[in-house]
Amino acid sequence: MVNIAVLVSGGGTNLQALIDAEQAGKIPHGKITLVLASNPKAYALERAAKAGIPTAVVSRKVYPDQDAYDQAIVNELKKNDTDLVILAGFLSILGSTVIRAYPDRIINIHPSLIPSFCGKGFYGLKVHEAALEKGVKVTGATVHLVNEIPDGGKILLQKAVEIEDGDTPEVLQRRVMEQAEWILLPKAAEMMAEKISAEEEK
Ligand code: GRF
Repeated sequence: MVNIAVLVSGGGTNLQALIDAEQAGKIPHGKITLVLASNPKAYALERAAKAGIPTAVVSRKVYPDQDAYDQAIVNELKKNDTDLVILAGFLSILGSTVIRAYPDRIINIHPSLIPSFCGKGFYGLKVHEAALEKGVKVTGATVHLVNEIPDGGKILLQKAVEIEDGDTPEVLQRRVMEQAEWILLPKAAEMMAEKISAEEEK
């Protein structure tokens, strides 16, 4: 069974989609064994507690520099025998120490069709504001492997979502979550867990 750690910063709706998928038997090769938040107030922590999932908080501002923060993250992940790391609305930067500790084992959900509207500074509502500003007719979500380049890793899954007349950033964000993010992330979690299980059997 692949141990999954979900890293969160906010409301945790993507985490909830993962929890619901696991409980529905849609992630047979994996089990969420840790929810790690970048801040103690993340509602995602409530969702984890309700589901009986162990939690941890590793807050960037507590650490003097990126390296100390990265080391604290890796220590927490190793303590929980993590095999797969899922970034679900996680807003802190992960440095190379974390990336190197989990090569091709960290995935992220980004709320656009990469390479559009991604990279430094593109997160949360800003992504949807940029899409509406540009006037694209279709947007969506992407699950990709995490490397040192923000939103730069190999694309694993994508799903398109129509933009409708009169969409506000908030309305569009919700549609992208419902129609794309909450579908793609559980699918990607099982895809990666199955792959890791197969590799461990060799
Ligand atoms: C959302 O904008 C989502 O697209 C991105 O992180 C934000 C918060 O997601 N991945 P969540 O509700 O905390 O999962």
